[in-house]
Amino acid sequence: MKYKRILLKLSGEALMGNKGFGIDQERLLEYANEIKSIYDEGCEVAIVIGGGNIFRGIQAEKGGMDRVHGDYMGMLATVINSMAIQSALEGLGVSTRLQSAIKMEQICEPFIRRKAVRHLEKGRVVIFGAGTGNPYFTTDTAATLRAIEIEASVILKGTRVDGIYTADPEKDNTATKYETIKFKEVYDKGLEVMDMTAFTLCKENNLPIIVFDMNKKGNLKNIILGHKIGTLVEV
Ligand code: GTP
Repeated sequence: MKYKRILLKLSGEALMGNKGFGIDQERLLEYANEIKSIYDEGCEVAIVIGGGNIFRGIQAEKGGMDRVHGDYMGMLATVINSMAIQSALEGLGVSTRLQSAIKMEQICEPFIRRKAVRHLEKGRVVIFGAGTGNPYFTTDTAATLRAIEIEASVILKGTRVDGIYTADPEKDNTATKYETIKFKEVYDKGLEVMDMTAFTLCKENNLPIIVFDMNKKGNLKNIILGHKIGTLVEV
């Protein structure tokens, strides 16, 4: 196994499947099965999921809502998605723990780094909810921060596209995919991988990122086994 401990970042929108809102149970189960496949290999798995399928702070701000208020609502949305993933995984017999950056004792544990690491060592999938617990930070940043804290060897960003391209492949048919790319090149070329806060955190802490297509069955397992899937961003 190439990666012993990983942090998987999923977008909330991905959970919608073909629906316009909320959680598509079929998609949820597909993702849970993909996660189980690496859990069964003995990989230590932490997960951060966004909340955009339920609430988007930035759009609410455009509609006149206070940004901070909107961001907190977005954080709560990530807890809902985290609970959904937790339930789906446990339905498949995968042991999990959910920790939230905002305390909600009745629902889950509070985020405690040392406890999270212990859970991973004991073979539990750890899901981190409520982002960083602070407004103005994205779930990509939360994912990066948690990945660094738990000393994950890589952050796996599951998306709808199969990697990073020289240009937008949906608009430019000459666009080609990078197999690997340096952090500096991503900066210099202005390519979008994550927001700059998240991206800089990865770079400064030497945390590689793999951007890959989460909707393709087997990708996740192939990555942890060391196959070249998606695009690897490294120092
Ligand atoms: P170890 O003691 O390391 O084996 O971990 P553990 O998670 O099994 O022990 P613990 O007794 O802390 O937790 C037992 C169960 O209670 C687990 O499902 C936890 O997720 C859950 N739990 C622990 N703390 C909290 C909390 O503050 N709130 C909620 N809602 N659940 C909690």
